[in-house]
Amino acid sequence: MDRIMKKLIAGNWKMNGSLQDACELCIAVMDKIEKNGAAVSDCEFLICPPALHIGSLLNYLKDRPDIVKVGAQDCAAYDNGAYTGEISAAMFADIGCEYVIIGHSERRHIIGEGDEIIVKKVKKAIENGLRVILCVGETQGERDKGSAKEIVAKQLEAVKIDGINSENLVIAYEPVWAIGTGNAATVDDVKKMHAFIRAKLKEMLADSDNLRILYGGSVKVDNAAQLLNIENVNGALIGGASLDAKSFVDIAKAAN
Ligand code: 13P
Repeated sequence: MDRIMKKLIAGNWKMNGSLQDACELCIAVMDKIEKNGAAVSDCEFLICPPALHIGSLLNYLKDRPDIVKVGAQDCAAYDNGAYTGEISAAMFADIGCEYVIIGHSERRHIIGEGDEIIVKKVKKAIENGLRVILCVGETQGERDKGSAKEIVAKQLEAVKIDGINSENLVIAYEPVWAIGTGNAATVDDVKKMHAFIRAKLKEMLADSDNLRILYGGSVKVDNAAQLLNIENVNGALIGGASLDAKSFVDIAKAAN
């Protein structure tokens, strides 16, 4: 199966765990993927550990490079230089990251990032050969007001920039109210929003049919089969459940 048609099963580890925890989790994830063989062969796996741990994990990952890819959870909006505390897209690419998550709702809503900075980050990421997982999604208040689609459309339109295509961009629809709440979106909500995102991408890109759209927000083993088999759902961005190797890989099994 073509890489692009595989479901992307991505773990966002967020700001969790010691170095030892990260190493153990990484090894356990690789072992479980290998053991499951054909049962997960329709999936591409990605882990996005805390930036500090990526270098150490790459020592394990480089011996088995095709099993799981590694990505960053964010990158700087700038090229290398005097930006204390930042880590550039070039640095992540240099050490072997293939993906970077940009515009996660925790960065939009807790750290206060808006579309302007997000677009700069997307540009830097693609200039440096990283694939971007752009997170979009509405808050509960925005959904209650009936403006979910409008919010998502605006977040998508912001990244209508030269050079984006289905190879270097992945969209993750993560309704803010579903993240970390145990309250995943319903099949109907996901179906409607993913169809809307697909249509929006068609207006923006020539090769939009091949672009993967992930769902994120309380994905667990017991709802994975339902959520991951909806039309236009091409994988999952998983938070809490990705911190356990068995549940992370079992989600992929359910998707297969
Ligand atoms: P949870 O799976 O813990 O709800 O987190 C989703 C998420 O934010 C992934 O980026």
